[in-house]
Amino acid sequence: MEKVFYITTPIYYVNAEPHLGHAYTTVVADFLARWHRLDGYRTFFLTGTDEHGETVYRAAQKAGEEPQAFVDRVSQRFRKAWELLGIAYDDFIRTTEERHKRVVQRVLQRVYEAGDIYYGEYEGLYCVSCERFYTEKELEGDLCPIHGRPVERRREGNYFFRMEKYREWLIDYLQTHPDLIRPEGYRNEVLSMLSEPIGDLSISRPKARVPWGIPLPWDEAHVTYVWFDALLNYVSALGYPDDPRYATFWPQAWHLIGKDILKPHAVFWPTMLKAAGIPMYRHLNVGGFLLGPDGRKMSKTLGNVVDPFALTEKYGRDAVRYYLLREIPYGQDTPVSEEALRARYEADLADDLGNLLQRTRAMLFRFAEGRIPEPVPGEELEEGTRLAGRLRGLVRDLRFHVALEEVMAYVKALNRYINEKRPWELFKEDPGEARAVLYRVVEGLRIASILLTPAMPDKMAELRRALGLREEVRLEEAERWGLAEPLPLPQEAGVLFPKEAPREAAKGSREGQTEGTKEDRSISIEDFAKVELRVAEVVAAEKHPNADRLLVLRLSLGNEERTVVSGIARWYRPEELVGKKVVLVANLKPAKLRGVESQGMILAASEGDKLALVTVEGDIPPGALVK
Ligand code: ME8
Ligand code: MG
Repeated sequence: MEKVFYITTPIYYVNAEPHLGHAYTTVVADFLARWHRLDGYRTFFLTGTDEHGETVYRAAQKAGEEPQAFVDRVSQRFRKAWELLGIAYDDFIRTTEERHKRVVQRVLQRVYEAGDIYYGEYEGLYCVSCERFYTEKELEGDLCPIHGRPVERRREGNYFFRMEKYREWLIDYLQTHPDLIRPEGYRNEVLSMLSEPIGDLSISRPKARVPWGIPLPWDEAHVTYVWFDALLNYVSALGYPDDPRYATFWPQAWHLIGKDILKPHAVFWPTMLKAAGIPMYRHLNVGGFLLGPDGRKMSKTLGNVVDPFALTEKYGRDAVRYYLLREIPYGQDTPVSEEALRARYEADLADDLGNLLQRTRAMLFRFAEGRIPEPVPGEELEEGTRLAGRLRGLVRDLRFHVALEEVMAYVKALNRYINEKRPWELFKEDPGEARAVLYRVVEGLRIASILLTPAMPDKMAELRRALGLREEVRLEEAERWGLAEPLPLPQEAGVLFPKEAPREAAKGSREGQTEGTKEDRSISIEDFAKVELRVAEVVAAEKHPNADRLLVLRLSLGNEERTVVSGIARWYRPEELVGKKVVLVANLKPAKLRGVESQGMILAASEGDKLALVTVEGDIPPGALVK
């Protein structure tokens, strides 16, 4: 049987900019889509925007734009955000598209003809200035929360969907399909909602009041209310009912949502499907909330949103993706912050994974002539070939953070393996064995990189490139040992996850050259003479205002002073630096590091977790040349 997978995100309202909460759900969807593609599934990944209704209409009015122009513009912001995050959707649906409206009208007509839609009256509390209904809870005292004016009791004609009629059926369906709604806590929540009457669902608004919507096919004076319109995107995008894609993908549909829209997806949608004669989706997967720094749900209304554009710009798309997937246990509310992202970036990505690649490449150049050695059996590292199987189960159970944790534990094990085998010592007595150790590490990295590809597609392709491995991979290849062939590595490779000022550093670094073979590494005396090294005395030092890892130093060169930003805060307190004579690269182009201009760079030696500044002994005045 052909393996098929269909994954959807909510279609997002275009009344506000995308924030990290939207990005989270979309990244999870993209991860799942990429995982299944990698595993040989025929996959369809759908996202899009929800563009009708009162809220969007008002947002357009407020922006002084025509609704269509407004939704075109904001929808584009979502596309842009997904592009920046490397979201490889197969289709982006907009509810204002003809192909969607057609399906909504067709389904409405069918349910109406079946007798499951009737006309009734809705009564509620209405603010004339806002031109909208409020629930009692939303009022402040008896007054409109926006205008502070009394609201009126008003009635309006609405069409209703006979939802209550399907309640018993739905309870039964949930009982016979215990994995329909996941994680289980949300299934129980839904069952408890269904333990009492749920009433019928208002599905229209008078066009005179809310003109921005899809007209009911049998009564043009009314437009479809948001949910009956929006939920149908999941089938309209597949070309329901006649397109073969609908037949192929719909039976394997996984919906991903946040818990805020549980009821519409777990109660409205199944009963709508039943009434329309459409089979049920396969899974409803419910995510928790990302919490802002104030511990509350991240939302535009609360003003506590984290901007995914800025984070991606600063740390790169794959770091943001990795952080969200690794940090958040799916289904649970989780606080998120830039600090937490940076901590993951440095510990997991830079120190463990990036450093492993860097030291492996360096040793391959030093001990294996810059080539991957001849294949050998894997010893304990062959364990890595069993990870793919375990991860398949974890991914299908929505335990993404555990899946990534397992791969990263393997990455740590590779680093440990190097530390224990000490290829640099082994090389002196038994170069063949040193190369065997390196081959195993390369294989381990190859396997880890495949398993991490759905989370970090670009970086893992870059990693494989840096080892001279094929960029295109399949999950199966992580289940076999010995696939890396003895080919040469590329001479140059950037630092995968640069630590300081990620973006600037990523460009400049040429690791292959510094770690290259003897010939590659030698420079002429003229080259060396280009670097101006001078003795400098630290006259003042303080913490960087925006970065915990950085110190801002004031250096004296005798007749001149310089400001230098240095990433040594972990090793030195500012006060212990004053009076030290250090070595400054004096003719380095100035660069801004997190907002402070650094006029040069000071030298330090580092290995693993240790770092020591290069200082000058004896009675040498500041400004003296080092040569
Ligand atoms: O509800 N934490 O659109 P919406 C985690 N148009 N996820 C969050 C989040 C947070 N703080 N904030 C938002 C709508 N999300 C409807 C959906 S579907 C047929 C129609 C994510 O723009 C989460 O997935 O309000 C949530 O369900 C969704 O954005 C709501 O997006
Ligand atoms: Mg919302």
